[in-house]
Amino acid sequence: MADEPQQTIDYSQHIPNNVDLANDRALQRALERWQPAFLSWWDETGPSNTSNLEVYLRTAVSVDRDGWANFGYVRMPEYRWGIFLTPRDENRKIHFGDHKNEPAWQDVPGEYRSPLRRIIVTQGDTEPASVEQQRLLGATCPSLYDLRNLFQVNVEEGRHLWAMVYLLHRYFGRDGREEAEALLQRRSGDANNPRILTAFNERTSHWLAYYMFTFFTDRDGKFQLAALAESAFDPLARTTRFMLTEEAHHMFVGESGVARVLQRTCEIMTERNLTDASQVRAQGVIDLETLQRFVNFHCSVTLDLFGSEVSSNAASFYTGGLKGRYGEANIADNHALGTDSYGIQEIEDGALVNRQVPALTALNARLRDDYMREIQAGLDRWNRIPEGFGIPFRMTLPQVGFHRKIGSFAGHHLSPDGRILSKEDWEQQSAGWLPSDKDHEFVGSLMGRVIEPGKFANWIAPPVRGINNLPIEFEYARFN
Ligand SMILES: [Fe+2]
Ligand SMILES: [Fe+2]
Repeated sequence: MADEPQQTIDYSQHIPNNVDLANDRALQRALERWQPAFLSWWDETGPSNTSNLEVYLRTAVSVDRDGWANFGYVRMPEYRWGIFLTPRDENRKIHFGDHKNEPAWQDVPGEYRSPLRRIIVTQGDTEPASVEQQRLLGATCPSLYDLRNLFQVNVEEGRHLWAMVYLLHRYFGRDGREEAEALLQRRSGDANNPRILTAFNERTSHWLAYYMFTFFTDRDGKFQLAALAESAFDPLARTTRFMLTEEAHHMFVGESGVARVLQRTCEIMTERNLTDASQVRAQGVIDLETLQRFVNFHCSVTLDLFGSEVSSNAASFYTGGLKGRYGEANIADNHALGTDSYGIQEIEDGALVNRQVPALTALNARLRDDYMREIQAGLDRWNRIPEGFGIPFRMTLPQVGFHRKIGSFAGHHLSPDGRILSKEDWEQQSAGWLPSDKDHEFVGSLMGRVIEPGKFANWIAPPVRGINNLPIEFEYARFN
């Protein structure tokens, strides 16, 4: 049996890890058989044309809060993916649901085997999916700095797949091994064998979509991981805790990426005294109205990832102790939700109504509301940019019912400001709210590869600072 995770990661092993893999030969052999399959998946669907590239990447060397990251040039296919869990707290107790105050589980209880496997597979499936979605972006990077950030996100999503595959192999026997194989077989956008969740089958076709994706969709990842970090199943809690430290960088890439696009557009608008979107576009920068349509799209498809607002599955995940609330440990209540209620919005007789439902069944809605607060704070930060330029435009989040395919708003038509529309009105007006093919074409037309150190594409401002305190003009990737 593998010992408990150590702070420091053993890189002398074929599979770097801090779970003492060397002392669990059967598991080690199984993972060593999975490893070449992972590498050929990476080869086939990971970042294209990177074999002659050395990228300045961070690699985890310790799961310590402060000391985990080591920076250096890495040849992309030689990145050391591994298995890193935050160390075990021997005294950890389950802190919510029916098993509250019992010791956290070090193994999977039989009664929760199937829902836990489903949770892990669903989370695991998103990780390789986003790598596949972003496969071609390297060819049109706006700078070496951005290219490096893209590949950092990609290798870490690959590592997140390792994190989930470790749990499947270690705790779910033969079923787990089969699921781990299937994770390498599904493909984002494939008609016959797609990724599990819809948002992960859309192609990320240009860098604006990429920044929006990392701001909105990676942040859904953060909230799902945070809820799993509360889990009674201790190995899941410990692995998701470490994944969250990596996720923070992905969201930084998204938030700062959109901020830099906004910055550049506002600079040009002010310098050349422009207000009209077509004039702004003529300068080769992305107009504010188009940015808003991308916010509407990425926000709404990401909200679908939270699932149905009212869900009996979510209730049983909570009472079982499998998945907690966001920040569960810091919530001042009895962590049981017995007779509590929670307010949700839905549509009744053609009108938007507020309804109280049992809090246990509304956990998806609650997680989504927590998420909405955080993205609203991000938009508020973005909005300081036009404000600073004296430009009256402000970005807004669409109402939660806008453009939804899953949950109580599916099948209804709402405007971004929450008016309920007929199907006809929706069809007439929605083109103004969502990115059109023409918008994608325009944004796509701006994309060109910029790889001279310190240079940036015209449509985006340089970042405020470089990576790891290095200058912006540092050579973040080398071709040879
Ligand atoms: Fe991830
Ligand atoms: Fe991520």
